[in-house]
Amino acid sequence: MPRQRMGLWLVGAKGGVATTVITGLAALSRGTVPPVGLVTALDPFASLGLVDFPDIVVGGHDIRGGRLIDEARRMWTESRAITPDVLDAAADAFTAVEARLRPGTVVAAGDMIRSLADDVGVARVESPQAAIERVRSDIAAFAAAEHLRHVVVVNVASTEPAPARPIPADFAAIEPLLDDAAACPLPASSLYALASFAAGASYVNFTPSTGATPPALRLLAARHGVATAGCDGKTGETLLKSVLAPMFAARHLEVMSWVGHNIFGNMDGKVLDDPRNKATKIRSKDHLLADILGYAPQTHVSIEYIKSLGDWKTAWDHVHFRGFLGTPMTLQFTWQGCDSILAAPLVIDLARLVERAQRDGQCGVLDWLACFFKSPFDVTEQSFAAQFALLEQWADATARSSSSAV
Ligand SMILES: NC(=O)c1ccc[n+]([C@@H]2O[C@H](COP(=O)([O-])OP(=O)(O)OC[C@H]3O[C@@H](n4cnc5c(N)ncnc54)[C@H](O)[C@@H]3O)[C@@H](O)[C@H]2O)c1
Repeated sequence: MPRQRMGLWLVGAKGGVATTVITGLAALSRGTVPPVGLVTALDPFASLGLVDFPDIVVGGHDIRGGRLIDEARRMWTESRAITPDVLDAAADAFTAVEARLRPGTVVAAGDMIRSLADDVGVARVESPQAAIERVRSDIAAFAAAEHLRHVVVVNVASTEPAPARPIPADFAAIEPLLDDAAACPLPASSLYALASFAAGASYVNFTPSTGATPPALRLLAARHGVATAGCDGKTGETLLKSVLAPMFAARHLEVMSWVGHNIFGNMDGKVLDDPRNKATKIRSKDHLLADILGYAPQTHVSIEYIKSLGDWKTAWDHVHFRGFLGTPMTLQFTWQGCDSILAAPLVIDLARLVERAQRDGQCGVLDWLACFFKSPFDVTEQSFAAQFALLEQWADATARSSSSAV
């Protein structure tokens, strides 16, 4: 069978996560690094006929000028996270991807994000409908030019503020508003989701921005025969919460309070320094404890931008819990993770898994991807182990259906 290539379209293509994805794919394609950090390299996912690394073609949107390779080099100059030899070895990949980048949209992205945009063809004033059409045609042109079997769009752009107005539950009520930026309640991430669906591409939201979260948009994915999943990659502190909170629940220990302080210094941290953008992230990090424990302990999540830390995020968590005879005890942990290094392999995993599901005709919400997200679509189960079991069940079913088709 001829090898078929898939597209990975990154919204926020010049950011830390995106440039680490591009660097990582180049290294994985050459076979110079082991696939550590990739869930899809584990059994049973590795035997599902997922797209090979060299067959993933990357393109994307961003709103800032500057060369991709210079953005990628920040992972060394500012964070000492990816060594220059690994970045230099990906130079050809950066040149190829750079040629496929297109100016994104800042319509309804909020003041903080608008302030990041450079004058590189990013339209500052356009109707939501015009933005959707422009983004749709960029994605469709990419798929046609590269002869791609399917394109998965992954949102790795800066976190937006929450929409100021409610989003109607029925798309028929949203559609007439798309011609008027002042009346349309959809933020930029949702316009990208609509454009992806219209282009026949699947849409994954790795951020806490709205994206395809409104029910009206999720339903549209199925109507267009494409898949969607989200929201907000679960890579660090929240991953630990979803592992540790089930333990307290299973041992019948009462969590009285859970405090998490996060400090980091990359551009994501700078954007989250704006209280409106920060509120979106805090909501996404804070809701799962009550879901897991069945009651709401006192919680506090803080996120502070500390420039010198670059891409290295430190989370210090203090968990105050009560045991037998009412005795109070404490768990504290310190997580020091390199944000983009944790996130990038998951973005590659999501692209490969969504493409595989699409090949089998699955569309709409892929709820079995819950373990990748802080706020998974259509899944109330927040325990990481239970969510991972959903992914394994999907892999088993996919393996069985492909062996019975042979
Ligand atoms: N571990 C992680 O790194 C992690 C985990 C979960 C979620 N996230 C989310 O992923 C996103 C990316 O993280 P990052 O560290 O790469 O951030 P970053 O700030 O380095 O990159 C974001 C990129 O998006 C671009 N951008 C902003 N608005 C845009 C728009 N409307 N259209 C197109 N491009 C736009 C910016 O110019 C920038 O290049 C953030 O929203 C972050 O909260 C990251």
